[in-house]
Amino acid sequence: MPGIIDTSPPVVVGPATKKATRPSNALPKWLQDEASRTVPEMFDATKHLKVQDPAYKISMKELGLEGHGISPNGVSAPFSLFTEDAIKQIRREVFSQKVLEECQYSSTFNKHMVRGMGRERAPFTYDAWYCPELIAHISSVAGMDLVPSMDFEVANINISVNDNEGTIPSPVAEDKGDKLDEFSTIHWHYDSYPFVCVVMLSDCTGMVGGETALRIPGGGIEKVRGPAMGTAVVMQGRYIEHQVLKAIGGRERISMVTSFRPKNPLAKDDTVLVGVRGISNIDELYTQYTEYRLEVLEERLRLKMKEERKRQVAKRSFDIVAMKKFLSEQRAFLDSMITELQDVNEN
Ligand SMILES: [Fe+2]
Repeated sequence: MPGIIDTSPPVVVGPATKKATRPSNALPKWLQDEASRTVPEMFDATKHLKVQDPAYKISMKELGLEGHGISPNGVSAPFSLFTEDAIKQIRREVFSQKVLEECQYSSTFNKHMVRGMGRERAPFTYDAWYCPELIAHISSVAGMDLVPSMDFEVANINISVNDNEGTIPSPVAEDKGDKLDEFSTIHWHYDSYPFVCVVMLSDCTGMVGGETALRIPGGGIEKVRGPAMGTAVVMQGRYIEHQVLKAIGGRERISMVTSFRPKNPLAKDDTVLVGVRGISNIDELYTQYTEYRLEVLEERLRLKMKEERKRQVAKRSFDIVAMKKFLSEQRAFLDSMITELQDVNEN
């Protein structure tokens, strides 16, 4: 079927997270106290967005990954996205009592996370990520039209707080004592979603490190500067093996990650749930995942039927090869869903 974006086979995903556990260490109270001093506002694109293009983008080809992924663009340099006021509003929601009570998660990978805040608990953050102007900009940086993967991934907040030695072990669960080793072998991973947009919610003035390291096949590592407050990095994280490096200095490092998938239902969607199944409200995650996947399938079938009707009107003969290819692709799409919808209690 025309329009299907053909790519290489999906890459193997990184380490699976364990089952969701409540964070073992409570977050410092000052995070909450500070956030509560912000006067609530509704999201307003004219006031809260400060959109600029990235200074450069690194292509998949430059990363040695030509032919992988769904867009030629691999990763962007940090670019301006939100105003300081917007960041304050987002932090106000992240550190609100209700969110901290109901949306905190922890895994072996990330010690402190806030996820699945939803529109009710975090209307400002939700409206910001669904703002058409913001989505258009993320899409232009990504090199293809994208939409947020699902509500539950709007947004994932990774929280790291400075320890006594001045190192922010972000955003990892435990430091294996390898402080001299810049790269941690256990934290190389692929994301579960095709694209991610990472926004910095902390003031990184005076902070050293915190870059994103990208592994280049065949050896070599490319480093991309971590975003500063209010700026964002867009990356095809499902196809690029990467890790966030430790940061030194500063009192905290809080980043917001929102995942995206292609808007075009005909585009390949390699979304998996391996990295998020253990750190999610399974009922919400599986409901939203199933809903969007079935909508994609519905649209694909509708378009295929339309194409078939046109073919008959034009009196062209049935294309066995093309129909089998289409059906095989849809079967793979359904097989992937069957694989992903695991009962977490059985693991
Ligand atoms: Fe990642």
